[in-house]
Amino acid sequence: MTNATSGLAIELTVQDISNVEADLVAIPVFEQDGFEDLAGLAAATGDEVTRAIASKEFKPKPFELFLTPAMAGIWRAKRIALVGVGPSDKFSMKRLRLAAAAAATAARQRRIDRIAFLARGGFAVAASVQAIAEGIVLGSFDAGRYKTTDHAGVAPCHAQVIAHAANSAAARDALARGMVLAESCNLARSLANEPGNVLTPRVFAERAGELTTAVGIDTELFDETRIGELKMGMLLGVARGSAEPPRLIVMRYAPDGAPETPVLGLVGKGITFDTGGISIKPADGMERMKDDMAGGAAVVCAMRAIGILKPRIKVIGVVPTTENMPGGRAIKPGDILTSASGKTVEVINTDAEGRLILGDALWYARELGATHVVDVATLTGACVVALGKTTSGLFGRPDSWVEAVRRAAEAAGDPVWHLPLVEEYLEQLRSEIADLSNSGGRPAGAITAALFLQEFAGPGPWVHLDIAGTAWSDDATPYQGKGPTGVAVRTLAELALSSSQWGLTGQERAEISDVAEADATG
Ligand code: BES
Ligand code: MN
Ligand code: ZN
Repeated sequence: MTNATSGLAIELTVQDISNVEADLVAIPVFEQDGFEDLAGLAAATGDEVTRAIASKEFKPKPFELFLTPAMAGIWRAKRIALVGVGPSDKFSMKRLRLAAAAAATAARQRRIDRIAFLARGGFAVAASVQAIAEGIVLGSFDAGRYKTTDHAGVAPCHAQVIAHAANSAAARDALARGMVLAESCNLARSLANEPGNVLTPRVFAERAGELTTAVGIDTELFDETRIGELKMGMLLGVARGSAEPPRLIVMRYAPDGAPETPVLGLVGKGITFDTGGISIKPADGMERMKDDMAGGAAVVCAMRAIGILKPRIKVIGVVPTTENMPGGRAIKPGDILTSASGKTVEVINTDAEGRLILGDALWYARELGATHVVDVATLTGACVVALGKTTSGLFGRPDSWVEAVRRAAEAAGDPVWHLPLVEEYLEQLRSEIADLSNSGGRPAGAITAALFLQEFAGPGPWVHLDIAGTAWSDDATPYQGKGPTGVAVRTLAELALSSSQWGLTGQERAEISDVAEADATG
């Protein structure tokens, strides 16, 4: 199967590792690994593996890498890479995914074209194959589009996942699913990487239209006139400071035979550049605010994945997109905006713009019939302070819906932490003259932002994911370069794919997956 966007082809092969033809064959290695399943490994590396492990040159800590040439005439591969995955009792799908990403990253940095990755570790074949395919595609992500020289690497073009078990339909489906999910994730990363002068709201909307209509999603792009007809005073208010007009991206997926309810509603913040507006941000680090549309990109690209993977559920995606600029017509602190829902908001801080555009979009998602809503936004610096750069904040109600989203995030490998919607803090959003103010000040800033959104989310199930800390990585790791992470794309797609299990308890889910496993093997 070939990656539709990067040209990377991945195939599933069931053969002895000695026969695998590749420039690099990567093997996950555990602490105290006995290599019982890899009797030929020592000889194939001229005992380099044995030596490197004995001398501790290579320690199988997570994602540590050891590369050595393969001896001619023993294995067909040219090089062998060991990828550490730590102790076997801590092994997980996430670790396997990241190990594959680390192998692909190493190959890209070394301009290696044909790679292979061995499925090891005792998980079900299909799940392993999916995780490895995801990792390989994620690790092949190339952020070098604007480099004309000194390119950081060239992504591999051919990859193999080597599995032990028969080449079952389930494993092949898993390969395709993993590729689509990771490829969609990479598309979101590319969008978030685009500078503000390239990815204006109009261009973002156009790209969203192309990406989603190509996979059968019904996408409409509302211009400022349509947005005005919907009376979205908060979206129009934020857009006033910019010479670029806003857009509202409305995506509908309604497959034949899908039940009338539930209808999943996905809402994403699409600020293509956040200067802060009149409450302008400091210059230091402001360039990062080009990724303030990462939540919107996650929704667009999750819709793309959904269009390809075709879950039997209706999904609606709504992405409001605008710049937040301090132009001569910009909104000013103290201005009052009237939202599409009718509620009035006093703008205390023009830099709290995300909640304004999302308030109108959340209301509209409900108008369109969404019963279960998730919004994703690079919303608050306070969330970065609270949870750091690896974990997104998760807010919502009721608990059953929070739990469904939490589980989807877990399966997708996007860490989240449930934070409380402390009712009393709504006081901080009180305005003397309007229904609400848009800023609750410094204390519990991530929570008051979520409480503001809740006022527009309607009474049904709703979850808010604050990805301010997780959308962008400041440090390169063995499995991920600096830059946009594509966080939440796989979570949202996974949520649509798992709709039959929403609302079930952990026990009920375990029983279903036991039955499914028995069906697959028996
Ligand atoms: N886009 C920012 C939040 C952000 C901060 C994202 C850091 C990524 C990294 C958001 O629009 C913002 O400016 N929020 C303000 C809200 C405040 C004025 C109430 C913030 O967090 O400071
Ligand atoms: Mn802001
Ligand atoms: Zn913002």
